[in-house]
Amino acid sequence: MGRKLKALGLLATAVLTLGIVGCSSEGASGGGGGDLDVGIVLPTKDEPRWVQDETRFKDALADSDYTTEILFSQGSSAKEKENVETLISKGMDVLIIAPHDGTAAGSAVEAAKDEGITVISYDRLITDTEAIDYYVTFDSVAVGEAQGQYLVDNADGTGVPLYLYAGAASDNNAFLFFEGAWNVLQPKIADGTFVIANSSEAEALKDKADLSREELGSILGQVTTNWDPSEAKNKAETHLTSAGSDLKGDVSILAPNDGTARSIADVFATDGAISDYTITGQDAEKASIQYIIDGKQSMTVFKDVRTLVTDAMGMAVDVLDGNTPETTATYDNGSMEVEAKQTDVIVVDQDNVKAELIDSGYYEASEFSGLE
Ligand code: BGC
Repeated sequence: MGRKLKALGLLATAVLTLGIVGCSSEGASGGGGGDLDVGIVLPTKDEPRWVQDETRFKDALADSDYTTEILFSQGSSAKEKENVETLISKGMDVLIIAPHDGTAAGSAVEAAKDEGITVISYDRLITDTEAIDYYVTFDSVAVGEAQGQYLVDNADGTGVPLYLYAGAASDNNAFLFFEGAWNVLQPKIADGTFVIANSSEAEALKDKADLSREELGSILGQVTTNWDPSEAKNKAETHLTSAGSDLKGDVSILAPNDGTARSIADVFATDGAISDYTITGQDAEKASIQYIIDGKQSMTVFKDVRTLVTDAMGMAVDVLDGNTPETTATYDNGSMEVEAKQTDVIVVDQDNVKAELIDSGYYEASEFSGLE
């Protein structure tokens, strides 16, 4: 179910920003007597990534005239459906939803669609349903490509052991991230730069540049973290226990996001036979920014959540005003081509962490120690 290219050119962010300024507001209080304009459903409070999104929504909505409500699904599709039903009962006009499980969320959005509600899939694509109007997302294949490229750029010599980890197979993004990483890593596995250390499924497919969804699924099935730092830790421990000395020394690690990267990095850091490691991440979580400053995590892919929030609310406001939101791409969700607005990502490591995340005003310098 790969991404379909239909680049329509970049939209000026300012246009959407203007769409929000002066007309949005937070409200866990939404629905107080009147109709709810926008309902927002996020997957879990247990991962800093989604708490970041909540914060950025609240910031963007601080002075709004629109009523909004944000609910968390706590990693449960049943809770997610209940959240959507609650918001429907409050008269919501537009639903912005990042699904816990992309396929299971189908029935929740179908219930919304039946009520004439406009559905915007947020960050994660809802699959195998026609009940989606729009998708706002980062360029997830580019996220994986950036991770893969970082490993390639930092690998010395040949035969570098490569440990692969992936996100949850219930999340369409996990496929896109891995597909992107594979685009860059596979030629470097084929030419002997890397040796796959922990996946017989990836090893069996190492000569194939383009993997089918099923093939990607077979690798994910073996190296998934389920987006869970403890599962990532356990897997990394098992892998290092069974790895011979030829798979230790200086190694490269594809970790799919910051939460899993920190726990995998901690495991590799305590193995005496690992002399050095390069490890990827994504989300620019505060804890990982500190890890990067401290040299414990090599990079992160910064996905500026402010832009995603602006895009999602810009779309919602367009819909509420009776206008058609502008889109820049389409994504095949297995049932339909979904009109999407896609945002670029930025690679951050020790060299540019201050410029990209502090000087840009995303985080405060006082939140970190050891920052130059
Ligand atoms: C998001 C990532 C996040 C991961 C785990 C993905 O769908 O795009 O930013 O780290 O889910 O929550």
